[in-house]
Amino acid sequence: MTKPSQLLKFIQILPHAPTKDDFLMKDLPSSGKRIDILCRDLSACFDWAPDSWPRPHLELSAILQDSVTLTFSEPGPLLPLGEVRWAQVIKDSLAGRPPGFVKVRQSGLEQAIKVSRATADSSVWLLEADGKPFSEVSDLCRNAENSFILGDHQGFDTKTLQIADQYGIPHVSFGKTSYLGSHCVAAVISEYERMND
Ligand SMILES: C[S@@+](CC[C@H](N)C(=O)[O-])C[C@H]1O[C@@H](n2cnc3c(N)ncnc32)[C@H](O)[C@@H]1O
Repeated sequence: MTKPSQLLKFIQILPHAPTKDDFLMKDLPSSGKRIDILCRDLSACFDWAPDSWPRPHLELSAILQDSVTLTFSEPGPLLPLGEVRWAQVIKDSLAGRPPGFVKVRQSGLEQAIKVSRATADSSVWLLEADGKPFSEVSDLCRNAENSFILGDHQGFDTKTLQIADQYGIPHVSFGKTSYLGSHCVAAVISEYERMND
């Protein structure tokens, strides 16, 4: 059974995505500098990926240019369906009109790691194809709170890897194949559902 307070958190790093609402809804990959990646992660996390995992026990943060953090909790009946609706939520949040399930902070990865680690019995992991196989990491399920850092279409920038190193964050992998970030979100949720069955 899932521990009552067990929380799964995802941290999507987007070093180039806009920190203002000045991207075009009709051109998310280019004008949004791959903000479409975040839209797909959000759909996976809160819409199509969870089966038995309790949705209120999911959270996803996006770190934009290591200076603005958007944290999404479970939207409940306000769940945006599809990439475009999520893009509108992101746009509204960056314009200073976040819905109740989004928090906007002027901070970057170091702060997100500190916040995640401040909770007793928590761990932060970095998802990377070259990491230790997920199936061989024995303490993944022990914690009340686990956070997983994801790269964008280019993987991780040097600054992210330096910060992760500085905090001794272990790298975990689903194998040598490179998957979409949204598929990694779904894979983590599915692994935890299996471990908690
Ligand atoms: C589309 S992939 C990045 C591909 C990029 N060309 C690279 O070489 O890293 C986006 C993110 O998903 C995660 N990811 C993709 N495949 C993975 C795997 N096999 N194991 C763990 N994480 C993975 C990583 O966080 C990665 O940065």
